[in-house]
Amino acid sequence: MPNAISGFSKLSKSEKIEWLLDTYFSNKENARNLVHQYWNTDEKLQKLHDEFIENTITNYYLPLGVAPNFSINNKLYTIPMAIEESSVVAAASKSAKFWLDRGGFKTEVISTEKIGQVHFTFDGDFEALQAFFKNIKPKLFEDTKAITKNMERRGGGILDIELRNKSEDLEHYYQLHATFETLDAMGANFINSCLEQFAKTFIQEAEKQLVGELEIVMSILSNYVPNCLVKAEVSCLIEDLKSKDISNPTLFAQKFKQAVNIAEVEPYRAVTHNKGIMNGIDAVVLATGNDFRAVEAGVHAYASKGGRYTSLTHCSIEDNIFKFWIEIPLALGTVGGLTSLHPLVKFALEMLENPSAKDLMQIVAVAGLAQNFAAVKSLTTTGIQEGHMKMHLLNILNQFEATAEEKEKIVEHFKTNVVTHSAVVEAIENLRG
Ligand code: MEV
Repeated sequence: MPNAISGFSKLSKSEKIEWLLDTYFSNKENARNLVHQYWNTDEKLQKLHDEFIENTITNYYLPLGVAPNFSINNKLYTIPMAIEESSVVAAASKSAKFWLDRGGFKTEVISTEKIGQVHFTFDGDFEALQAFFKNIKPKLFEDTKAITKNMERRGGGILDIELRNKSEDLEHYYQLHATFETLDAMGANFINSCLEQFAKTFIQEAEKQLVGELEIVMSILSNYVPNCLVKAEVSCLIEDLKSKDISNPTLFAQKFKQAVNIAEVEPYRAVTHNKGIMNGIDAVVLATGNDFRAVEAGVHAYASKGGRYTSLTHCSIEDNIFKFWIEIPLALGTVGGLTSLHPLVKFALEMLENPSAKDLMQIVAVAGLAQNFAAVKSLTTTGIQEGHMKMHLLNILNQFEATAEEKEKIVEHFKTNVVTHSAVVEAIENLRG
């Protein structure tokens, strides 16, 4: 067992790497080469990446792909996607093309409110706390002026602060529940700074004006943003669903709707159904330098808001019209954070014509809906493995270090044969004699 190390973060980058190599690797030379191989040759660029986090030793690549032909409210987009799963970008592109010929995606931002809370305990009288809160509420706003000044000039800021009594859920527990408009910023730093100032003012004034013990537990934004909502939708006449792989559009529409209805009532299916949606969402969120963990947490909480985990997408068939839509909470930013730091994030945003946060919410929702359409379409027609394994074929070939010539022959062979891991291995072995 290796010994614990103290002062690791103070070591230089190469000292950290050498410690790692000495401690964990039998073939140090190989491990060192690998770490160095992934360094960027541009030292300035490498330093930028090194400084994003603590203890950086090298870079970890994900492919950045693009899915063209997305018509969103009649404007064409090519959507950047950072993801490792082989079939995701292909599926998004296929969906985009399918709906391009059928009116495209229609989207709407429903609301943009963010939330933050100061959690505190108080052992005194609630009515006295209410009176105290009413009295100091203007001061809570006033004391944050230095933080909110710029945001307010652009039209955002603190929307409201409420006192909430949570003492029935947990003894002595109360909160300041604040709402914010953060415009094109995701707003985490802005919200957390405001909350910490609320907490300071609150405790200072409580000491002067309130009878009872009041203690701040923590001040933090919430990643649950049910009032920061976006909707994306596709629809067309049922007969217009007819395509190369949909010969019977009525049957397709019914089966597709049945699959969505199953995800609405069955949590085991809903989780996988929503995972497919997140394949699209996370890939765009990541490519545009946003926090996919925050988005994931918020989206899944939203999927459970009725008390049971359910589908994020819905489908209807009415008056001969097939409609498929998603409604999700998304707290995204197109300024601040990584957006002005990471060169590839800037590249991705420029490709999207430098969207506002509202524009990006709509693009991301579309990526989720498109991904889900492709998955449910495959699941209810050919099955998922056909497309998935075709895309995975190259990964398997790379594992076997297939040459370009071998790849070409084997890809050709699997145009007319079913791809399975063992079938690919057999094909390689046959080819290599
Ligand atoms: C795989 O990453 C995603 C799917 O499982 C989604 C789904 O089942 O709807 C194909």
